[in-house]
Amino acid sequence: MPFEDLVHIDDCCFSPFPPLQKDARKHLEAVRDMKTNEDDVLLITYPKCGTHWVWEIIAMLLKEEAEYHPLVREHVFLDAVDPSSLDSLPSPRVFNTHIPFRWLPQEHFRKGRKAVNVIRNPKDAAVSLYCHWHSSNELGVGSLSWSEFFEEVVVGQYKNLFGGYFDFQKELYRAAQSDPEFSLHTMYYETLKKDPVSEILSLAGYLGVTCSRELAADIADKCSFHKLKHASDNLKDHGEIAKLMKNMDRKLPNFYRKGKVGDWKNWYTVSQNERHDARIKEEMKDIDFDLQLIYENL
Ligand code: A3P
Repeated sequence: MPFEDLVHIDDCCFSPFPPLQKDARKHLEAVRDMKTNEDDVLLITYPKCGTHWVWEIIAMLLKEEAEYHPLVREHVFLDAVDPSSLDSLPSPRVFNTHIPFRWLPQEHFRKGRKAVNVIRNPKDAAVSLYCHWHSSNELGVGSLSWSEFFEEVVVGQYKNLFGGYFDFQKELYRAAQSDPEFSLHTMYYETLKKDPVSEILSLAGYLGVTCSRELAADIADKCSFHKLKHASDNLKDHGEIAKLMKNMDRKLPNFYRKGKVGDWKNWYTVSQNERHDARIKEEMKDIDFDLQLIYENL
């Protein structure tokens, strides 16, 4: 049965990463209570919004050189690794996660440490998630058509995946607005795609690192879709992702599919589009962060 392996906790459900499958509450509370270092950066994204891309950019900026990180970002993926295994990693560390704010390391925010959030058009994120899970048959999605997935995940009973696209963003934004110490840099996938150099310079400013226009251009180039995909394929050759997935008993998914803005138009029917728009309107009416920016970039 598709989705039967999802891990349910409170009003959220998650992919069955081993520590979540073993004891979701224990793992999430361990993440919430973990200590972070002054120079740690937390990359917070709803799935399929460009995590791999921005993680690599941040890692390059912190090194101040356009060299690929030797390890895949999954080694610092808070959803799937035991926080105690991260203690020995060299600083600065760039953690990434799809966990809703309530279970993110609270000390990190209390102390005003750096956090980056990437937002993407929810329609492109939904198509990307479908393709990812369909190609790897994760959670049994290999047997589902796009329409079936849309009914279950976009508007149906599993719309609370990872807390749900809208609630995930709203929870984070409300927390940021209510705490003057909170430090959060928001990026949009679509804007990064359109003008990577300016976005990288702005991110460098937030991270407090020195970055010339030349370095930003070099990072943008090294992290462009095809080059990053190629670099990731080479890592796969070295078995990094494969090893990790094998440990998780999961088939290797394709994290680099098309890397385009607006691919949703090739998938959504007119009616699906109208229903998703209605949901977006309803969900966004009580929050003042603006998805309009995304649509302006389409
Ligand atoms: P698509 O499936 O639409 O191609 P995440 O890393 O959060 O899982 O997000 C994956 C999505 O980001 C995929 O979207 C992937 O192709 C896209 N992506 C990865 N690297 C990218 C890059 N360098 N430029 C643009 N998109 C990228």
